[in-house]
Amino acid sequence: MCSELHGFMLIYYTIESLRAKLSEFRAQNQSLGFVPTMGALHQGHLSLIAECQKKTKVSICSIFVNPTQFNNTNDLAKYPVDLERDIDLLKSAGCDILFAPSAAEMYPNGPESNHFDFGKIERVMEGEHRPGHFNGVGTVVGKFFEIIEPDIAFFGEKDFQQLAIINKLVELKNYDVEIAGCPILREPDGLAMSSRNVRLTKEQRKAAPTIFKSLQFAKYNYRSFTPNTLKEKVQELINIEDELNVEHVEIRTADNLSEVVEWPVNTDFRIFVAVFAGEIRLIDNEQLN
Ligand code: PAJ
Repeated sequence: MCSELHGFMLIYYTIESLRAKLSEFRAQNQSLGFVPTMGALHQGHLSLIAECQKKTKVSICSIFVNPTQFNNTNDLAKYPVDLERDIDLLKSAGCDILFAPSAAEMYPNGPESNHFDFGKIERVMEGEHRPGHFNGVGTVVGKFFEIIEPDIAFFGEKDFQQLAIINKLVELKNYDVEIAGCPILREPDGLAMSSRNVRLTKEQRKAAPTIFKSLQFAKYNYRSFTPNTLKEKVQELINIEDELNVEHVEIRTADNLSEVVEWPVNTDFRIFVAVFAGEIRLIDNEQLN
């Protein structure tokens, strides 16, 4: 934690006021760490803040439900928002600065995405099933990087493809920032923590840990199957639950998200799933080797 701020959290709603404060820290050579979020915070988000505090002097969290990355208007309308609770959580985690801009502050000309060429990693999985999603993510994260100019920015492997997109964004735009990937935090029953979990019904919540159990099955048994038959098996295991409906199961390399058609020897590879519980879309992934 930044000693000047010990026990306090500064909250900014405008770019100008935030930048004025950050330039003071920069003048004192204090390293800036950044954790972008959409709020409805949980322990997964707080683990990124903890990592940020370990590696940098000043921890900055943003809360902004970014309209340009939602391909589904209903998902945006129902995205959980509780700023007061989030502020309390961030304060008890010892976060130094919260940036919580309005949509008008971030998008003065209306919510429009820039178009990026992220290459083939934007055309698979989340990119394929959520058109425009990664242009929206790239747009807002690029804006944040330009406003904050962090030394290190922290992203969860829960959104493994997003992490790959952010690395590509940094390369494309030449941002002077280090990207740190952080492990997935899970509930005791294995369900990956997610802001959307609070929207699950009791029955859906009860069924949801089957997603992780199926990924664990894949991790410990993948050698007994071909990649294709393993995907089918995982899909079957998840769809046994009446409350769950698989959208996709994919097995891809960790480095460039190429499809795995036979088990690679010297490359990390992961299994990725997107599953609907009613209208709520849950994603998860696990390293297999
Ligand atoms: P959000 O879904 O709020 O997630 C913010 C960060 O928390 C992301 O880096 C995400 O991968 C990480 N995260 C979420 N659940 C996690 C878990 N269970 N364990 C570890 N990390 C977890 O991702 C976004 O917001 C947005 O796309 C954003 C990057 C803020 C751009 O709008």
